[in-house]
Amino acid sequence: MAARIVTLPGDGIGPEILAAAVRVLGALGDFELEERLVGGASIDAHGTALTEEVLEACRSSEAILLAAVGGPKWDTVDPAAPRPEQGLLGLRKGLELFANLRPVRPSPALLDASPLKRDRIEGTDLLVVRELTGGIYFGDSGREGDRAHDDCAYTVGEVERIARVAFASARSKVVSVDKANVLETSRLWRETVSRVHAEEFPLVQLEHMLVDNAAMQLVSAPRHFEVILTENLFGDILSDEAAMLTGSLGMLPSASLGDEDTPGLFEPVHGSAPDIAGTGRANPLAMFGSVALMLRHGLAMESEAAALESAVDEALEAGLRTPDLGGEATTEDATRAVLASL
Ligand code: IPM
Ligand code: MG
Repeated sequence: MAARIVTLPGDGIGPEILAAAVRVLGALGDFELEERLVGGASIDAHGTALTEEVLEACRSSEAILLAAVGGPKWDTVDPAAPRPEQGLLGLRKGLELFANLRPVRPSPALLDASPLKRDRIEGTDLLVVRELTGGIYFGDSGREGDRAHDDCAYTVGEVERIARVAFASARSKVVSVDKANVLETSRLWRETVSRVHAEEFPLVQLEHMLVDNAAMQLVSAPRHFEVILTENLFGDILSDEAAMLTGSLGMLPSASLGDEDTPGLFEPVHGSAPDIAGTGRANPLAMFGSVALMLRHGLAMESEAAALESAVDEALEAGLRTPDLGGEATTEDATRAVLASL
């Protein structure tokens, strides 16, 4: 039976790159797709960024493919107004998708497209394992007169389960990133990661690194990293930084996974790029990469996943460059090039 996938185009360039992804999926197999609203599109239709009904449709699917949410239309500092990002955060939390995997592997053809020097980034092949349902993103927050606060909290259990994902993903080494010289949550993080390591994964090397140092090492010595394990906010920031190793934020895919019986959510790391929405110039490659991660982690279709990844590499090898990579190829050109390689 065809796998049932909920597709969430969202906002900005979202619908354009999702339509491209649907064409690529069509070339790889038989899928039952169910399109739903999320983010700003859902706010416009229902007054909320994620309806209960859409959350339920996602819960009962086999995988969720999301493009991007957000845009200036819904940007506001009014704390009472709904925000598109609540749709994404609601999905992550509602499905308890605690493990966010962001692989960073510059395509060989793009080694000269990064603003960083080729000899720095050559050989980079790392995975950011970001905790996705805890920390400051989901702590108590509020305003009291002229003061605002966002609490950051982690439990031992939350750190243990994400640490296991990181160690299980590593061939030889995990760098755990925290701010243990300042934050209590980071000290709990470090202590817990060390214990999981000693008790369950002693054969994997573990290094602890402070987040400011990690931010510097990531661009000065990216080959130093194989798996980066980190909490929600640090992972958000470091993964955008890591994206530049691949030449463009438009290249980075991600997988958000929960327990075994929960469908995974697959989405590009980049946002909805409202500045280029509707121009047909969006780079769909991070979206295609996210389709590949969905095939691999969500649907157990490894050979199709690998085929899609090679097709993307091949298209880049043949010279495909969207504007974010310094070229002029359109979304349509990029989609055709990848379909042709497939
Ligand atoms: C990401 C995004 C989201 C995040 C936003 C859109 C809420 O930046 O997936 O990295 O901060 O997690
Ligand atoms: Mg981000």
